[in-house]
Amino acid sequence: MLNSTPLTDVDPNKHGGRIKRQIARLRITELRMFRDMAVSLRASLRQQLPPKVVEVIRASLGTCRFFHLHIRAWLVKVRAQVRAFGAHSQDLASRIERVNVIRPTAMCRILSKYGSDKGAVCPTWHNYTTVYSMMFRGFRDQSLRIFEMGLGTNNPAFRFNMGVNGKPGASLRAWRELFPRAYIYGADIDRSILFQEDRIGTFYCDQLDPAAIQDLWSLSELRGGMDIIIDDGLHTFEANTCFLEASLGHLRAGGFYIIEDIRPDTVGRWHERIERVYLERYQSCQFVFVALPCPANTLGDNNLLIIHRELS
Ligand SMILES: C[S@@+](CC[C@H](N)C(=O)[O-])C[C@H]1O[C@@H](n2cnc3c(N)ncnc32)[C@H](O)[C@@H]1O
Repeated sequence: MLNSTPLTDVDPNKHGGRIKRQIARLRITELRMFRDMAVSLRASLRQQLPPKVVEVIRASLGTCRFFHLHIRAWLVKVRAQVRAFGAHSQDLASRIERVNVIRPTAMCRILSKYGSDKGAVCPTWHNYTTVYSMMFRGFRDQSLRIFEMGLGTNNPAFRFNMGVNGKPGASLRAWRELFPRAYIYGADIDRSILFQEDRIGTFYCDQLDPAAIQDLWSLSELRGGMDIIIDDGLHTFEANTCFLEASLGHLRAGGFYIIEDIRPDTVGRWHERIERVYLERYQSCQFVFVALPCPANTLGDNNLLIIHRELS
């Protein structure tokens, strides 16, 4: 274990977790309201102002933000809390621990440009791309196969939707730009947002249903394994473990399997499952748990489980 500080082993009853969660939900609703208001304001300004003025304002704001974030990251270093499971995972954990998780990278910018929420640099919600930029360094020009569960529906009827202004397929299009020789695949429970584009294929899957996951992996396009698998679908312990146990066998040697947005109240269950079951079952894999600090993330779900399959 690298870091002896417990991550977020929260006892919800003892700490008034239910109230905290309700406040957190209210804050998410507020944040969404502000985001929707900002989108409407931006749209009406765009209609009323001449296009050149809009362009100048946008470029100036972008430049200010760029300098602000870079100067802040130069002055302040913020590190993730990292826990390695098993001695053979410590090297990966040490490399992740050295990342400054408030330093914006090109990957952060591109994920945000397409509308995914995993590339926003603190003080907003998730900043996973600060860590991914380090992990995927050297992958850029390889002919990779990347799979992501969860396309980002904007239909409020589905759990973990991206809000009405969400852009389904945002992260898949960002991966395509970042990895010019890669094939990108994705799946979602919402059939209405599935699409096919150059180097992108998407499919239906309910990640709570083992038979649906088996059908997914038996599709001819998906045979042959993946170099990167990201689970950004249904963020519950049951959904994540169901998908992981039916999918880790499809991760190629040298590849990464990542689960995003792990909820703080499930961290203890994850540790137990990894220690009691996965270390024995998946002996060629390294397991690292990462909690990224971000005060604005009131749900405390800025957490990743990163699994690296060793090169035999
Ligand atoms: C947070 S969004 C994904 C965002 C996207 N990966 C991005 O970065 O732009 C979560 C997605 O999970 C999907 N989802 C919810 N429940 C699911 C399930 N049981 N199986 C598969 N996908 C599910 C939702 O429809 C939604 O599109």
